[in-house]
Order: sequence, then structure tokens, then C-alpha cells
Amino acid sequence: MSHVVVGVAASDTEPADGRVASGKPILSVEHVGRTFRKTDGSLFTALEDVSLDVRPGELISIIGPSGCGKTTLLRLIAGLDTPEKGTLSFDGEPVQGPDPRRGYVFQQGSLFPWLTVEQNVAFPLKARGLYASRRDDVKSYLAQVGLTGFEKAYPHQISGGMAQRVAIARALAGRPDVLLLDEPMGALDSFTRADLQDRLLDLWEQFRTTMILVTHDVDEAIYLGNRVVIMTPRPGRIKEIVDIDLPTRDRISDDFSDYRRLLLTKLDFDRGH
Ligand SMILES: Nc1ncnc2c1ncn2[C@@H]1O[C@H](COP(=O)(O)OP(=O)(O)O)[C@@H](O)[C@H]1O
Ligand SMILES: [Mg+2]
Repeated sequence: MSHVVVGVAASDTEPADGRVASGKPILSVEHVGRTFRKTDGSLFTALEDVSLDVRPGELISIIGPSGCGKTTLLRLIAGLDTPEKGTLSFDGEPVQGPDPRRGYVFQQGSLFPWLTVEQNVAFPLKARGLYASRRDDVKSYLAQVGLTGFEKAYPHQISGGMAQRVAIARALAGRPDVLLLDEPMGALDSFTRADLQDRLLDLWEQFRTTMILVTHDVDEAIYLGNRVVIMTPRPGRIKEIVDIDLPTRDRISDDFSDYRRLLLTKLDFDRGH
């Protein structure tokens, strides 16, 4: 059963929902730099001169080896951290801190273990005083990720893949303009991962929420992304941005293999050949 057909790369189309005037990026990262002080006191450049525009409705993958600054970049976009150099703007305004319009999904283990699945999804709505008016959203977003019937379960009673689906439902229930996903499938086996990738694509097709997905998986980056941002480490920089134009999402097509070869080469997996 394939429920995923993405015909057009959103990067080539007009914004899907008109929330932001056509052509204007919803998010702009301009010449951003971030350093950290190491334990020996020396400075480490986690990000150097990173610039990226994200258009409304895009699904962007960010790929690169461990330590190249992917999480650092996503945290800056979320407003969980501030850059030393450069600027970030969202919907035309500077990013100045966390904002419910930018939802965040962590790699794993972000659910509250003492709350049920349904209470976990409701939590941010309650915290924002929106639960009374959006109570029905909790059930509907859980249904969207295929978890109807598990509302009363606790996190320890469900699988890792289901827990990530709860985390995604929780983020979506906040109705964010942008969903930031930091390796949400990184800890899952390949079958569970493929299932979650398809669900994420379904959600993206349905809501056209702008998504920025961090991954270290080449296939995942191609399968999900309209564009793939390739990062390299020491210092963390954007090496290149590759447009993905696949007529259908098919992991075993020749087109897919061509993109895989292209990305692996750009990521220097061909060293020594
Ligand atoms: N708060 C921090 N303090 C010190 N070093 C950090 C901090 N956050 C990240 N770093 C360092 O910055 C580099 C990039 O980290 P990160 O953004 O987590 O990479 P990635 O997500 O691509 O694996 C790593 O070398 C990491 O050790
Ligand atoms: Mg990371």
C-alpha cells in the first residue's frame, strides 16, 4: 500500500496556503555563525556563515555527518539559542526566542512519562490556554498519525515509533507554521522508519506545513525533501543545496539512485575511489 505520491517539488511552486505573500521566504537565515567554548577554553566554530531561505510549504532536509552543526542550526531557528553573527528572521521579524509558530520535534524521549498519550498531546495546548477551544484537535491529530485507540496509553506502553508519532501529533496540535524535526526517526529500525517517513509525507501533503527535517540518512533526505541542504563539519557550513525533483516517491527508482549517488559523492563518501 503506497499512500505517498508527491508529484511536484514545492520549491518550484507558489506557496501552498497563502500565509505569506508569494515568493517571500517564511524563514531567512543570513550569514549565521555560532561558536562554543570547549572544556580546554578554546573556541569551537559550530556554524560558520550559514545562509538559508525557506519558502512557505517547503519540506527541506538538512543532512551532514555528526557534529556538523545540524542541531545547532535547528535550535537557532527555533529560537532556543542565539547566534553570535548574522541574523534569523521568521515571517519578516527577527527570531527572538521560542515561538509556538515554530514547532519542534526532538530525536526521542521527549514525551512526559507520567502523562498518557492524549495528555502529552494536550499539554502544550493547556499551557497556552487553548485546550478549551481546541480540545477536539487532540483526538484528530492522534488520528492523523494513526494512534486512535492509544489515547489512554502511557509512553512506556507504546513502541518507539509510536512515541515519535505522538511527539509529531503534539507538535502539529500547536498548529505551527513551521515544523522543525531533529532526526525524529534516528533511533528507529528501518521498517518503522519507512512507515513514519510515509506518515510525515502524508501530513505534509495534507497540511502543507513548512517542515525542516534534520537527518543523517541520505535516503530519508531524498525521499522526504523538496530540497536537500548538505552540511559539512569543522567548521559547520552549508556546502550545497540540491533540488529534488522526483515524479513519484519511489526508493528503488533509477532517479532515486541517481540522487543517492549525487548526494553520497557530495558528502565525500567516495573518498579513496
Ligand atoms: N552547548 C554546547 N556547548 C559546547 N559545544 C557544543 C554545544 N552544542 C553543540 N556543540 C558542539 O558543536 C558541534 C555541532 O554540534 P551539533 O549541532 O549538535 O551537531 P549535529 O547535530 O550535526 O551532530 C559539535 O562538535 C558539538 O560538540
Ligand atoms: Mg544533532
